[in-house]
Amino acid sequence: MKLFDVYSLFEIEPVKGEGCYVYDKAGTKYLDFYGGHAVISIGHAHPHYVQKISEQVSNLGFYSNSVENSLQQELADKLGELSCCEKYQLFLCNSGAEANENALKLASFHNGKTKVISFKKSFHGRTSAAVNVTDKSAIQAPINQLFEKEFHEWNNIDTVRASLTKGDVCAVIIEGIQGIGGIHIAETSFLEELSRLCKEHHAVLILDEIQSGYVRSGYFFSYQHAMIEPDIISMAKGMGNGFPIGGILIHPKFEASKGLLGTTFGGNHLACAAGIAVLDVIQAEGLRENAKAVGDYFIKKLQQVEGVKEVRGMGLMIGLDLGFPVKELRKKMLYQAQIFTGSSSDPNVLRLLPPLTIGKEEVDIFMEAFRKVLPLFLAA
Ligand SMILES: Cc1ncc(COP(=O)(O)O)c(C=O)c1O
Repeated sequence: MKLFDVYSLFEIEPVKGEGCYVYDKAGTKYLDFYGGHAVISIGHAHPHYVQKISEQVSNLGFYSNSVENSLQQELADKLGELSCCEKYQLFLCNSGAEANENALKLASFHNGKTKVISFKKSFHGRTSAAVNVTDKSAIQAPINQLFEKEFHEWNNIDTVRASLTKGDVCAVIIEGIQGIGGIHIAETSFLEELSRLCKEHHAVLILDEIQSGYVRSGYFFSYQHAMIEPDIISMAKGMGNGFPIGGILIHPKFEASKGLLGTTFGGNHLACAAGIAVLDVIQAEGLRENAKAVGDYFIKKLQQVEGVKEVRGMGLMIGLDLGFPVKELRKKMLYQAQIFTGSSSDPNVLRLLPPLTIGKEEVDIFMEAFRKVLPLFLAA
C-alpha cells in the first residue's frame, strides 16, 4: 500500500533519540534544534519518561472515559500548580487541533455566537473549526469554511476593537507567540487591552499555547507576561514530549454538563502517564528557568552575528529573519553540520525550537556551525 504523499521529507531516518540528540541507522548523531515541531520538551527518551510510560503500559494502557481514572486528576493537580492556573478546569484530548476545536466549540456553546476573530499569519490546526480560523486558505476545504471569521493585523488593537464593538463576536483566538507564522510575540499592552475588550463585549478569549506553552518561552504559558486571565488556554506539543496528548484549560466561569465535550482516547492512562512524567521533569530539572537562561544566552549570541536581519523570540522559541529564503541553509545545517532546524510560513525565517533541556554547550555547538554556514549564503 502506498502512503498518501503529503509530506516533503529530508532523506534521514532517526531511529534513536537521547536528550537533545537523535541518531540515524548508521549511528550518525544529529543535534535537534527543532524538537520535531516543538514537541520534544524534556528531551528524547528521558529515563523518567520511559520508566513512567513503560510501567503504565505494562499495567493498563487504556480504558474509556466511562470509568474513574485518577491519573487525570494527578495530571490536573500538577499542571495547575506549575502553571499557576489552579482555578481552571482541565479537559484532555489528543492533539493541538482538537484542543482548539473544543475551545471554539465551548466558546460558541457559552455565548451562542459564531463569528471568530483571528490574526494574520496565525496557525491553529487542520480540523474543521481550527483550520477555518487559520490564516492559510490553501489548507481550508469548502466544508471547513462554515462560519464567519476575520484575520486582523498582529498587535493592532484598533481594528479588533472596532469589530468587537459590534457585539457579534463569539471568540478571539490568538497564539501567545505566533509559531508557524515566523515567531511574533503578542505585546503585553495588546493582550491586556484585548482581554478587557473581550470581557466588555462578551467574546471568549482563547489563548493558543500549543506551541508556545509548557515553559518554552520561559513562562509556563507565554502570555503570562501580561496581567490577563484568558477564558480558555489550549495546549499540546510539549505536553507529552511526543506522546499524543492535548488539552484545554477552562476558566471556572464555564460550567460543565455531562456530554458537553467528549473523546474516546483523550486522557487515557498512557497519555496521562506521559503528561505527568513531563511535568515531573519540568519541575525537577527547573526547565522553565533553563529555557529562560539558555534562551537569553542564545538570543544574545544570535544578535551578534553579522548578516542576521532580525532575531525574534522568548526563551527557547526563536525566529531568525535572514533576509533570504532559508530552505538551502537548513539543508546545509542538516547534511553538513548535522543540526536540525525549522522553517516557518515566512520563507526567510528560520525557526529554532530545541528541547528545553539544552544548555549553553549545545548553543555553542549550534553557533559554531551557523557562523560557518551563514557566510556561504551571504556571499551568494
Ligand atoms: C499554535 C498551534 N496551534 C495548533 C496547532 C495544531 O496542532 P496539531 O498539529 O497537534 O493538531 C499547531 C501545530 O503546529 C500550532 O503550532
